[in-house]
Amino acid sequence: MNWLNDNVNLLGLLGAAAIIIITVFVVGKYIKQIKNEKSTGELVGEDWDGIGEYKNPLPIGWSLSFIGTMVWVLWYFLIGYPLGGYSQIGEYNEEVAAYNTKFESKWANPDEQTLLGMGEGVFLVQCAPCHGVTGDGINGKAADMSRWGTELAIVDTIVKGSKGMGYPLGDMPAGMLDKESATAVAAYVFEKIAKAGKSKNSDLVATGEALWPTCAACHGQDGKGMSGSSPNISNYGKPEFVVDVLNHGKKGDIGTMPSFNDGRLTDIQKLAVGKYVNSLIE
Ligand code: HEC
Ligand code: HEC
Repeated sequence: MNWLNDNVNLLGLLGAAAIIIITVFVVGKYIKQIKNEKSTGELVGEDWDGIGEYKNPLPIGWSLSFIGTMVWVLWYFLIGYPLGGYSQIGEYNEEVAAYNTKFESKWANPDEQTLLGMGEGVFLVQCAPCHGVTGDGINGKAADMSRWGTELAIVDTIVKGSKGMGYPLGDMPAGMLDKESATAVAAYVFEKIAKAGKSKNSDLVATGEALWPTCAACHGQDGKGMSGSSPNISNYGKPEFVVDVLNHGKKGDIGTMPSFNDGRLTDIQKLAVGKYVNSLIE
């Protein structure tokens, strides 16, 4: 009998048995009293067709609970909610904030390995539902992390445009350049603006530079986004850019990535998951 090994089940059964026994006992006592006892108490004056009412003093336990309830109501109203401004949500938020402060100070200076581990943990919980456990984006549901951050992804962005981050300049329009020119600009952006390493199309960097003014109109000559008017693409492919995307949110062809700027992740967790996402770039 498996269920007897469960302490909670056992306690529940004992409780039920106790309730039945007490109920039988109490009901029996009162039935006996109704049958046998002649009343001895003092009656109040009124008499309704032969039915009288006893002068019973209030039971002490009842009176105490009644007064206690009043005191509690006053205390709760004045000290707690609403006059004292107490709320469970407030308490919850305070606890989370206190925890986060502790968390931030504990992990203030993590080494590379710790950061990557933390990033992987965050990714599997917060990002994998849309981006897939391996970060492949689950058939285009979300961005493919092995492609994002590469030159190819910059070409995609120029051809398809970019939306959803809510920068003052709005969305980046699609189709500003044809694929060939986009490939050249991507080479320039990858190598010279983001300084992400040697471009696969190094021979196109000069052509790309000549086309850069198309982009500099919004991203600034240095690509830094003209004081927050558009994203700082000199960070493109780096953890800082992932953090920027997480703070803003993003729209794709299929869906929307909500902003993570709601306290779900601490700053160090955003940076960690940014590093992890970077490690997925091919
Ligand atoms: C009309 C202004 C404008 C022009 C011109 C422009 N961009 Fe953008 N760009 C933006 C804005 C705004 C965003 C952010 C859009 C969003 O996702 O909300 C952006 C985003 C980006 C991103 C980041 C995309 C991502 O994955 O998040 C890259 C890379 C980029 N632009 C490169 C370029 C390049 C290269 C050019 C030149 C061919 C260019 N942009 C031209 C306004 C512009
Ligand atoms: C609700 C689904 C969803 C969740 C959860 C989600 N994303 Fe996204 N993410 C998207 C979508 C949709 C896009 C846009 C894809 C596209 O470009 O078509 C995107 C885009 C991105 C991009 C590329 C942005 C760019 O500039 O092109 C990065 C980087 C990213 N997500 C990282 C993350 C990280 C890190 C997490 C976890 C902290 C996360 N995402 C959680 C749906 C999600």
